[in-house]
Amino acid sequence: MNVLVTGGAGFIGSHVVDRLLERGDEVWVLDDLSTGKWANLGEHLANPKLHRIQADITEGLFAPMAAAEALGITVDGVVHLAALVSVVRSMDEPLADVRTNVRGTVQVLEYARRRAAKKVVFASSAAVYGDVATVPTPEGAPLAPLSPYGVDKLTGEHFMRMYAEVHGVPTSVLRFFNVYGPRQDPSSPYSGVISIFTNRASRGQPLGIYGDGGQTRDFVYVGDVVNAIVACLDTPESTPPTNVGTGQGTSIETLARTVLEVSEVDLAVNKGPARAGEIRRSVAVVDQLKERFGLCAEVPLAQGLAEIVASLREPG
Ligand SMILES: NC(=O)c1ccc[n+]([C@@H]2O[C@H](COP(=O)([O-])OP(=O)(O)OC[C@H]3O[C@@H](n4cnc5c(N)ncnc54)[C@H](O)[C@@H]3O)[C@@H](O)[C@H]2O)c1
Repeated sequence: MNVLVTGGAGFIGSHVVDRLLERGDEVWVLDDLSTGKWANLGEHLANPKLHRIQADITEGLFAPMAAAEALGITVDGVVHLAALVSVVRSMDEPLADVRTNVRGTVQVLEYARRRAAKKVVFASSAAVYGDVATVPTPEGAPLAPLSPYGVDKLTGEHFMRMYAEVHGVPTSVLRFFNVYGPRQDPSSPYSGVISIFTNRASRGQPLGIYGDGGQTRDFVYVGDVVNAIVACLDTPESTPPTNVGTGQGTSIETLARTVLEVSEVDLAVNKGPARAGEIRRSVAVVDQLKERFGLCAEVPLAQGLAEIVASLREPG
C-alpha cells in the first residue's frame, strides 16, 4: 500500500510510520517540522520505502506530491495527523488554529478526492465533547467544544463525513483521548502532562499539579492508537467517529505517583492553583472501538510509562 502520513514526523505520526514500514508499506511523510522532527524517524531514514517531504499542508498537497506522481505513484491511503495540537494555544491564536486544522484538513481532502484515494483517516479529539455531563462519554454525547481547537476538530469531522457522502471519498474519524508514549515532546509550554512528568522525574525535578489532582483523564498508549489508525486504514468503507481511549479514568495525582514509582525516584508532588476552565473528568466509552474494529487498548498505564522511562534513559 502507498500511504501518505501528514504530520508523520510528529509524536503519533512517527509511531504510525514505524508500523507501516514494518508491514512493508511505502510511506510518504509530509510535515512542515513545526513541532515534529525527522529525528523521530531516525531508525528508518535510510529505508528506501520512506519518502520525506517538508511542506505545509495549508498550501495544498499537489505541488509537494508532484515528484512522486511524476514517477507514476498513486496514494492509496492518507493518515491525516498534521495539526496545531494544543487547546491552550488555540485560545491564544484561534486564526492560526483555523488555518492549519480546518484549511489544512480541507486541502488534504481535496488531494484525496482529486487523486481518488481509497481511504482518509482523520485524527480528531475528545476536545469535540467539551465539558460533557456524561462521563464516561459515548460517541453520541452532545458535541459542544469549548476551544477553537475543539471546534476545528469538529469541523474537520464534518468535512470528513461530507467528502464521504458527497464525493465518495471513504473516510474514518478517530477521537483520541489523552495519548502518551515515547517521543512526545516535553519542551513546549503546550506539552501533555505525561511527557512533562516523565521528563521532570528523569531529571530529579519535583512534579507540579494544577488544583487538587483529582481531575481524571483517559490516558491511552500510542501503540494502541496506532492499532486503531491502521485498522481504519485497512477498512475500505467509511466509519463514523470512534473514541480511542482505555475506558479508564486516572487522576492526575495517581498519575504523578505512578510516574515516580516507575521512574524509581522519590520526589515532591506540589499542588498549585487550579487552571481556569479545566475540565474535571474525561473518560471514553470504548464499546464502538471494539464493535467496529475488534480493538481495545492493551497497554496498562504503568507499562506504557515504563516504555517512556526506558526511552529517556537511552543514550543520545
Ligand atoms: N497527543 C494527543 O494526546 C492527541 C489527542 C487528540 C488528538 N490528537 C491529534 O493527533 C494528531 C497528532 O498529534 P501529536 O500529539 O502527534 O502532535 P505533534 O505536534 O507531535 O504532531 C503534529 C505534526 O504535524 C506537523 N504539522 C503541524 N502543522 C503542519 C502543517 N501546517 N503542515 C504540515 N505539517 C504540520 C508537526 O510538525 C508535527 O510533526 C493531531 O492531529 C492532534 O490534534 C492528539
